[in-house]
Amino acid sequence: MEKFNALQEIVTERRSIKPAVFNGKKIEDHEIRQLLELAHWAPTHGFTEPWRFVVYSGKAVVQFCHRHADLYRQGTLPDKFNAGKYEKQKHNGDKASHVIIAFMQRGDNSNITQLEEICATAAAMQNILLGAEALGIAALWSTGGMVMHGVMKTWLGLREEDIVIGLVYLGYTDEPLKPGRRVPVEAKTTWIDELK
Ligand SMILES: Cc1cc2nc3c(=O)[nH]c(=O)nc-3n(C[C@H](O)[C@H](O)[C@H](O)COP(=O)(O)O)c2cc1C
Repeated sequence: MEKFNALQEIVTERRSIKPAVFNGKKIEDHEIRQLLELAHWAPTHGFTEPWRFVVYSGKAVVQFCHRHADLYRQGTLPDKFNAGKYEKQKHNGDKASHVIIAFMQRGDNSNITQLEEICATAAAMQNILLGAEALGIAALWSTGGMVMHGVMKTWLGLREEDIVIGLVYLGYTDEPLKPGRRVPVEAKTTWIDELK
């Protein structure tokens, strides 16, 4: 029960924190490695372990965010381009400590579906977020900007069959947490104790 209570606290107190409200304090690299080690323990069908990570630290955090904004400009038709969005992407790294890109690297085991590989990588992402919560680190899983676009995949040198699962912006914050769930889980659950 003690273990459950500790886990429950971490799970329910985890909140997405936007990089705009990070405070600029840096995370030690060894803590980032601890988060990646947790990610590596995600469930994996067929032991394919499809999660892959690129970690941006130091100057590369701001450089990556500038590059991301540039990818948005290059990959967007002029009539669809939004200068506010460009600036937001560009400045996402200003007060972040690290940015992790997580992607699914499709294996060659055809018995395992693409969806399973995506699910495994998403589970790895959640492990990062929970680990961050336990270490008092603020984190945001983001699929914004060009994360879901082919232009990001090309820039990362990924193959067609690989999929970017998201960015995680990491840092610290002084902001209070926002409220949690809107709809109780009972409203989303059907219990069956005997099939007719
Ligand atoms: C796959 C995925 C993509 C997300 N992408 C974004 C994003 O691009 N921008 C953002 O602000 N939040 C993003 N989020 C975070 C959600 O907004 C957040 O989880 C949701 O508001 C619930 O809040 P909580 O995480 O604090 O419980 C994403 C979450 C997931 C799971």
